[in-house]
Amino acid sequence: MKITVVGAGAVGATTADNIIRRELAEEVVLLDIKEGVSEGKSLDIYQTAALLGFNTKPIGSTNDYEKTKGSDVVVITSGLPRKPGMTREELIGINAGIVKGVTENILKYSPKAIIIVVSNPMDTMTYLALKESGIPKKRLIGMGGALDSARFKTYLAMTMDVSPLDIHGMVIGGHGDTTMIPLTRLATYNGIPVSRFLNAEQLEKVAADTMVGGATLTKLIGTSAWYAPGAATMMLVESIVRNQKRIVPCSVYLNGEYGQKDICMGVPVVLGRSGWEKIINLRLSDAEKAAFEKSAEAVRSMNGALSL
Ligand code: NAI
Repeated sequence: MKITVVGAGAVGATTADNIIRRELAEEVVLLDIKEGVSEGKSLDIYQTAALLGFNTKPIGSTNDYEKTKGSDVVVITSGLPRKPGMTREELIGINAGIVKGVTENILKYSPKAIIIVVSNPMDTMTYLALKESGIPKKRLIGMGGALDSARFKTYLAMTMDVSPLDIHGMVIGGHGDTTMIPLTRLATYNGIPVSRFLNAEQLEKVAADTMVGGATLTKLIGTSAWYAPGAATMMLVESIVRNQKRIVPCSVYLNGEYGQKDICMGVPVVLGRSGWEKIINLRLSDAEKAAFEKSAEAVRSMNGALSL
């Protein structure tokens, strides 16, 4: 198994580090355009092997795609991150050019790769990568819902004062502060609806905190987050390479599912060795359906800014 992570910045390097520590592949290539950065970070990560005990080899590459040849899974994190006060949507122009170029280069050397898009605005970048590459839709996956769901579970656990491990819940829809949909109605504490433990006001606050989860961190840190994004991306990679068939909300191409066509948005999918294997059709309430519809409108209008 060979995995490539494009972009050796905060999210890319953390994703690679998590993948390597868990030995999800024999080789992990970290590629960046900045001279020396990917080589330096790869060497730094490799120097933890003797301390942490793993056999996966990190390989740094300054824009040399030949080194990525034969990758089974490729994660794209290259692009600008948000600064305080910025929305994910404001990144569209510059990141579209980067994601398009990277996708072309990757497919030259790894035509069969499963591609995971992380760069923002993620739903639009996933749609762009799919349209430009023409690869089968099941091999293109956008990472957003996994992170948003982890944040949702954390806020629920913090409010209930319980372990995040015992909370189950999902965030679907677009990966934006106003477009994501935390499914509080379906969230459980070990199978028991969280509404048995929290009142409506508390649940509303958890949902609101989840939606601005990324912006809250950007304000505190001064740039966007990387620990949870890196772990969430690794979790997608793990479910694919180990064929775990976990159900994770991911941005995938919808062709009528959830009432939407020709758009990439977050819905629960089963992730296995061939990519996203099927979409889980949740029975949404009328309010959730309306929120999904509104979210789709916003994502669609963003896609309109692409010159496809
Ligand atoms: P960063 O600035 O730390 O790293 C980005 C890296 O991409 C830089 O090292 C840069 O040199 C590299 N890069 C730029 N153009 C490139 C190209 N053409 N080829 C190869 N490398 C290139 O940014 P960070 O924090 O790692 O974020 C990366 C992206 O991920 C941003 O767009 C950010 O908004 C997004 N993001 C998405 C999340 C999600 O849930 N989908 C969560 C967190 C961040």
